[in-house]
Amino acid sequence: MSVKESPAWKALEQHADTMQSTHLRDLFLQDTPVDAPANIDKTNSRFDTFSVSNGSLLLDFSKQRITQTTLSLLKNLSRDCQLERWKERLFSGDTINTSENRPALHTALRLPYNSQLSLDNHNIVTDIQANLAHMSSMVARIHAGQWRGYSGLPIDTIVNIGVGGSDLGPLMACKALSDSQPPAGQQLKMHFVSSMDGSQIANLLDQLSPTTTLFIISSKSFTTIDTLSNANTARQWLKSASGVKDELLNRRHFIGVSASPDKMSQWGIPEKSQLNFWDWTGGRYSLWSAIGLPIALRIGMSGFKEMLSGAHAMDEHFKNAPFEENLPVQLGMIGIWNINFLNIHAHAILPYDGRLSHLPAYLEQLEMESNGKSANRQGNSIDYHTCPILWGEIGPNAQHAFYQLLHQGTESVMCDFITPARRYDGFENTELQQQHQLSLANCLAQSRLLALGDSAIEGNDKAPIHKRYRGNQPSTTVLIDELTPYSFGQLIALYEHKVFVQSVIWEVNPFDQWGVELGKKMATELLKPLLNEDAPATFDSSTTGLLNSILSLQTL
Ligand code: F6P
Repeated sequence: MSVKESPAWKALEQHADTMQSTHLRDLFLQDTPVDAPANIDKTNSRFDTFSVSNGSLLLDFSKQRITQTTLSLLKNLSRDCQLERWKERLFSGDTINTSENRPALHTALRLPYNSQLSLDNHNIVTDIQANLAHMSSMVARIHAGQWRGYSGLPIDTIVNIGVGGSDLGPLMACKALSDSQPPAGQQLKMHFVSSMDGSQIANLLDQLSPTTTLFIISSKSFTTIDTLSNANTARQWLKSASGVKDELLNRRHFIGVSASPDKMSQWGIPEKSQLNFWDWTGGRYSLWSAIGLPIALRIGMSGFKEMLSGAHAMDEHFKNAPFEENLPVQLGMIGIWNINFLNIHAHAILPYDGRLSHLPAYLEQLEMESNGKSANRQGNSIDYHTCPILWGEIGPNAQHAFYQLLHQGTESVMCDFITPARRYDGFENTELQQQHQLSLANCLAQSRLLALGDSAIEGNDKAPIHKRYRGNQPSTTVLIDELTPYSFGQLIALYEHKVFVQSVIWEVNPFDQWGVELGKKMATELLKPLLNEDAPATFDSSTTGLLNSILSLQTL
């Protein structure tokens, strides 16, 4: 039976009929006025009712188009879809990634060192800890200046070569945690290379010294052509600059991180310089594994472990907190309400902190690669919406770009405003700290205006139409106490679990990504004519026409 047939889904559809015509302005009007007489209970505000906190993170859902009834109906839906049972299956290592016949155990990567989790009668926490110890010794050697390049000089520059989950997580975390100090005197220059066309690496290599640069080749599969072609370019650069043999370069200038040790060895990375992880860690869930090596190099191993602890705290919260207090469950279920019942299919991620500039790209992969599906776990096509289109940008910059559409366009968009409350400790009363206050003021102003529209500004309802604001765009504000490795770990785990919650309701497997495979295969076919190999197969007229145009332009 499709989830659409469940009584809870049907009840939500009915409830949506009334809520569709209810404006957020009216929901806020039902609040007790702040200037009500002292004997009136003012605690029953929308904010009090619909904000949830676990200490580090506060999620304000009061600007969502919900009532208490909405939440209780969503709770019923989560129960009908057996969310609790799915949570157990996730955490216990059940084979829930059925199309690839494996568990999804990213949560195991952040278990405390003395925990036990048995997979095939083996405690995988011992493997995870051994791996962390190996990573830790590499980090210590590099930080101590003991990892030396071919000429004997210590490494001072790291280039992570990877793409998708082998790039976005470490890239995002290194920027987000750029204020977290690595151990004294161990500041390394960090770079990230992902683009297949070589433009990033070409520009970068010109600025680097081959004697002191170490490349991390990050690829779960170690077959991704984007990554291997960048890695080959890096090795060729080292070779022509140094004139030394591959063997020495591979040993001194490359670390491999992969779930495929054989392939790392075939490429030439010696065993000692390999860090492994496991096929039960999905690429987009892998920053907690050795894929996080750049993070540990940037903030130190202790900072990396704090990040793991933060994520673990969110795991425990997700597992144990009741529906009413459960941050990822509420975030996920309110998303379901917006998408499936209020018909909102665009989602903007708006961090009000420049350090979170890569969070939108990270969440684009996490959410859309996980839940961008239209077949359910039983192998049937589904007839309801799943993952919306996600995009985003640093909020204040987006204000000067696409907020026009959010305020006055024709599309309904749901937004996540994400900001830390505290920043720039030690800079009290400086212009810099004022900038943080300015950013907070903008964050609050925008979510208020998006929710309330004209009614937020006295008299604006009399303005000419081009100056009117319709409001009623729902948003969640994610308030972080301050951005530390611990709270950052919580934030990312929050979104991982939100994605899982939604996958349970939609009955899709969020841990595979078959939709990316065929394009890779077809590109291999199309490479042949571009490399003048074999006669091309017959393509459609557009592809053939473009191919011929490219080839003739290349011979000019
Ligand atoms: O093609 C998509 C994908 O498989 C992502 O899921 C993954 O994060 C990325 O490519 C990189 O894969 P790998 O780490 O195996 O190089």
